[in-house]
Order: sequence, then structure tokens, then C-alpha cells
Amino acid sequence: MDVIVKDTYEEMSREAAQIVAQAMRAKPNLVLGLATGGTPLGLYHELIRMHQEEGLDFSKVTTFNLDEYLGLPPTHEQSYAYFMQHNLFRHINVRPDKIYVPSGLVEDVQAYCAWYEEEIARAGGIDLQVLGIGRDGHIAFNEPGSSLASRTRVVTLTKETIEDNARFFARPEDVPRFAITMGVGTIMEARHCLLLANGPSKAEAVAALVEGPITSQITASALQMHPQATVILDRAAAAKLKRLDYYQWIYENRQYLGR
Ligand code: PGA
Repeated sequence: MDVIVKDTYEEMSREAAQIVAQAMRAKPNLVLGLATGGTPLGLYHELIRMHQEEGLDFSKVTTFNLDEYLGLPPTHEQSYAYFMQHNLFRHINVRPDKIYVPSGLVEDVQAYCAWYEEEIARAGGIDLQVLGIGRDGHIAFNEPGSSLASRTRVVTLTKETIEDNARFFARPEDVPRFAITMGVGTIMEARHCLLLANGPSKAEAVAALVEGPITSQITASALQMHPQATVILDRAAAAKLKRLDYYQWIYENRQYLGR
């Protein structure tokens, strides 16, 4: 696991955008896994800028989003489909038929989740998966207790997650209690995982992810088993890491490894 610490949210976002852009240049038909939430907004902002000013080309890219609230149509302002349209897709040249966001409105959820997994496989698997982390250590909506081998499925959100996300809804009781999410096992099959975290509220979860035991109580900790995981943090989110000096030393010496 590579841990990169930047002074600010903006620098964290730019570093992440460089990694995504580099992957797209190396493989124009990249299969890109995407996340929602406040964390990746700076990354999306920078990717939009790179598309508009530097011609970063999304025309051959396929995207798969991690999750969606159950019961929200894509037209709902708090749905993740809406979030992605407004914060990324409509500003870049990704083809609409190459965008996958789980549907919150399916009848046969189990068959739908199996189909979503099949589509990922048909696309050749996810090359690069962008991730955030919840205060409870979740990745996507894999709440504490989710199997580390879990696949795309319906989950019940924790009260903590509902509380955290209530800021986006008119009333806390409007936050859906269920979601469709890629599983930890699904995420672990991505060839490269890129997790971003910023702010002091994430410091504890980040320390558990990087330096704690691997446990289904902190589903992000599964990334310790991932062959290529990159964690990019701002100072505040890195504040509780014990081996920060070493991670920085690795980063400073990265050119000798050709990275
Ligand atoms: P946030 O959410 O980016 O809005 O903090 C992250 C998450 O819950 O995974």
C-alpha cells in the first residue's frame, strides 16, 4: 500500500487526477471505477479542467460507480446518478452508453446485482477504482460487518452513515436506509485501488485502514491485501498515522523505483 500525504485538499485532488490521467493515457479504453461523496469532488473538478484545457479524452473510457441509494430515481437530486451527471459526466466526453451507475429502482435486485457484476467482467474488469472512506471505515457502502469477500448487493446503512449523509437531504428521515453497493470482493478485483480521504473526521478511520488489523469491522482495511492500493490523504486525515515518516520517505524515494 502506498500512502501519499499532501498539505491540502486541492493538492490531494490534483495528485489523484494525475494518477487517473496517467492511467487513461496509458490505456485510452480504461475501465474506471468511480465514487460519490464530498471527497472526490476536487478530483472530478481537476479531471474536468484537464479535459477542457488539456484535451484529456474520455471517449473510450467505461465507468462503473460503486453504489446507489435504493429507491431514488436518477432524477432525484440526492441520487448518485444525478451527482455523477452534475459533477462529472456532463462536463466530459464520456459516452452515455459506457456509464454504469447502479439503479436504485430495480425490481429484481438480486438479478440486477448479478448483472452489474457481469457487466464489469464483460468490460474486462475495473482497471482503476476511486474510493472514499466513511468515518466507520466503510468503502463504498460496505458497512462494518460486511464480508470482505462480499459482492454487489443490497445493504442496510448504519445510523452513522445516514447521519453523515443527512446534510445533503432536506430532512434526516429522507435519507434512504438501503443501498446497492459493489462488495469488498468486487472492489478488491480492481487492478488498482485509489482511496482518497481528507479532514480530521477521517483520521481515525484512515489509521485503522492503513495500520490496524484487517477486519470486516473496517472494510477499507481489506486494501492491506490489495496488490496495488494507493491512499492519498491531506494532513488532517493523516494525523493519526504512526509511520507517517516512513510513508513520506518512500514517496520521496519513489523515482529510484521508476514510479
Ligand atoms: P464523503 O463520503 O466523501 O462524503 O466523506 C465518503 C464515504 O462515506 O465513503
